[in-house]
Amino acid sequence: MQLPNLKILDEKNKTLRKISEEVKFPLTKEDKKTIKDIITYLTMSQIEEYYEKYNLRPGMGLAFIQLGIPKNIFVIVDEVDEGKFENYVIINPKMISHSEELIYVGEGEGCLSVNREVEGIVPRYARMRISYQNEEGQKLEIRVREDLSVAFQHEMDHLNGILFIDKIDKKDPFKNREKMREI
Ligand code: NI
Repeated sequence: MQLPNLKILDEKNKTLRKISEEVKFPLTKEDKKTIKDIITYLTMSQIEEYYEKYNLRPGMGLAFIQLGIPKNIFVIVDEVDEGKFENYVIINPKMISHSEELIYVGEGEGCLSVNREVEGIVPRYARMRISYQNEEGQKLEIRVREDLSVAFQHEMDHLNGILFIDKIDKKDPFKNREKMREI
């Protein structure tokens, strides 16, 4: 596999704060290529052979805005089984409904734009349902739960210029821990 040359913006870059825009169909050739490159990059970042060789930080999601492109597109590559990956290409997502229950990732969330360890709780819905469009522009719905639900919410935040670090209470990073379930 060839590692795509992606320039991922760092948290200090103000472009990450932009609100991404609705995507029109058909997708441009460039956007299709970017989607492919992100899938390859995220997949390689989760395979030991490659993350060691290229010194990559493993990541399961990336939004277009992290490459400086303010379009409502994100990609998630989820390792469902050892070496088996499921890809999600999500365009123009909208939340339809969500659980009351909140969860948080015990070891902390990570982001390819945040190159440091950040401790603290990022409250996320345990389950949610969203509508979105696929690469062909077809309108679809998906229900996600647990870590996939966290990943989707993390990426949807990117489309609104929000980073996970914004959601951690600065004075008390583990505030309200008892009200949520750790995953
Ligand atoms: Ni991120």
